[in-house]
Amino acid sequence: MNLAEYIFAHRDQHLNELCDFLRIPSISAKTEHKPDIERAAQWVASNLRSAGFQTVEIVPTALHPLVYAESLHAPGKPTILFYGHYDVQPAEPLDLWTSPAFEPTVRDGRLFGRGTADDKGQVHIHLKALESLFKTHGKLPINVKVLIEGEEEVGSVSLWEYVQKNKARLQADALVVSDTSMLAPGVPSITYGLRGLNYYQIELTGPERDLHSGVYGGAVPNPITILCELFAKLHDKDFRVAIPGFYKDIAKLSKAERKSLNALPWKEKDFRKAVGAPAYCGEKGFSIVERLWTRPTLELNGIWGGYQGEGAKTVIASKAFAKFSTRLVPNQNPDKIARLVEKHIRKLLPKSVKMKFETLSTGKPWVAPFHAPIFQIAQAALQKGFGKKAVFIREGGSIPFVTQMHDTFKVPCVLIGFGLPDENAHAPDEHIALDNYFNGIRAIAHFYEDLASL
Ligand code: BES
Ligand code: MN
Ligand code: MN
Repeated sequence: MNLAEYIFAHRDQHLNELCDFLRIPSISAKTEHKPDIERAAQWVASNLRSAGFQTVEIVPTALHPLVYAESLHAPGKPTILFYGHYDVQPAEPLDLWTSPAFEPTVRDGRLFGRGTADDKGQVHIHLKALESLFKTHGKLPINVKVLIEGEEEVGSVSLWEYVQKNKARLQADALVVSDTSMLAPGVPSITYGLRGLNYYQIELTGPERDLHSGVYGGAVPNPITILCELFAKLHDKDFRVAIPGFYKDIAKLSKAERKSLNALPWKEKDFRKAVGAPAYCGEKGFSIVERLWTRPTLELNGIWGGYQGEGAKTVIASKAFAKFSTRLVPNQNPDKIARLVEKHIRKLLPKSVKMKFETLSTGKPWVAPFHAPIFQIAQAALQKGFGKKAVFIREGGSIPFVTQMHDTFKVPCVLIGFGLPDENAHAPDEHIALDNYFNGIRAIAHFYEDLASL
């Protein structure tokens, strides 16, 4: 059997096996799922052994284990490092799932379940591509290092420590990642830019304790009102972030790049359908694609305080809280932005509240040229898998590891996404299109095979 025949003959087996992986609720954010995280790491390790990797390690870390494997039996051939994550986001709100989050189910040519698109399904595409190559060739045609982590959804802290301590070991000619999206159905895509991400939390304290709002209201500052006023001041009427210096260091987009991004087969109609809001907004002077991929933002991600239970409770809360984040683009510096954000917020707040400001994590944006030969090989392999020419896109999401690797090793980073923007990553009813999963295995197998000629 040749490679394509082998992959076709194993479709059902591959899909069933992915479902086993998806049934493990490896939620990195929740301590109670620690045993599931361990189980998922074991699962990945044993799957790598079936794919022909002899060196497979589960590396314990301060938080969740990472899985490292290598197969270096192709002297003179390129070495690639494949990165992905086996952890997933929490599944809440559970009642909005059509079928349970950890009981993978096929409906209308799509596989539903937490982790299908982000990122277990995409990791599995590579595991099966490598296994298929190993089974049909008897060995892998190139040298492969694999690093699958369990903390991506909570900031990849242990991973960075591991990279710092294992630079020689992780050295490769290129980094390959599948944790992004395709531009649209039937449009294979290679991502050459991601936004960076800073995440913040603030706590405002007004009165020392909760107060009766009738007894005290009118003469006491309300921290929830002050929090709302604060966030109302962080954007201007043109939807620009109203923090002095926020836009100062941004690299100007070239005319040529603007033109090529705006010429992509991207449909505003699909975007509207995926979002489903009554109206849209955004920074003046930029197209939607430019807003999503090339402009920085400030977003409130959660806000709480006071009484939220059933019925009424007349209270002035002592505290109000918010979680918010800034997406960053080249050449904004995450530490500098964090300082500007804190400084401006401190300046806006009245004396009637005290603030605790925390920057929970920072992450740099990433954009890189894509003229190295490996990008043409990727494009040709995607053509073999999908029968269509791949496009080069940027995206708005963040993968801190990509920037860290690029800064550390200065090698090409090839981001080949098989998810779709409307597949509900991080939300109820997450899914992956089965066509993209199966075509993905074919494309990636050809990619690794063709890299031998590099
Ligand atoms: N796979 C995503 C990142 C992504 C999504 C990139 C879509 C491109 C397109 C990743 O798992 C993720 O969710 N990243 C987080 C940041 C992380 C530090 C928690 C994000 O982008 O919010
Ligand atoms: Mn991901
Ligand atoms: Mn994610």
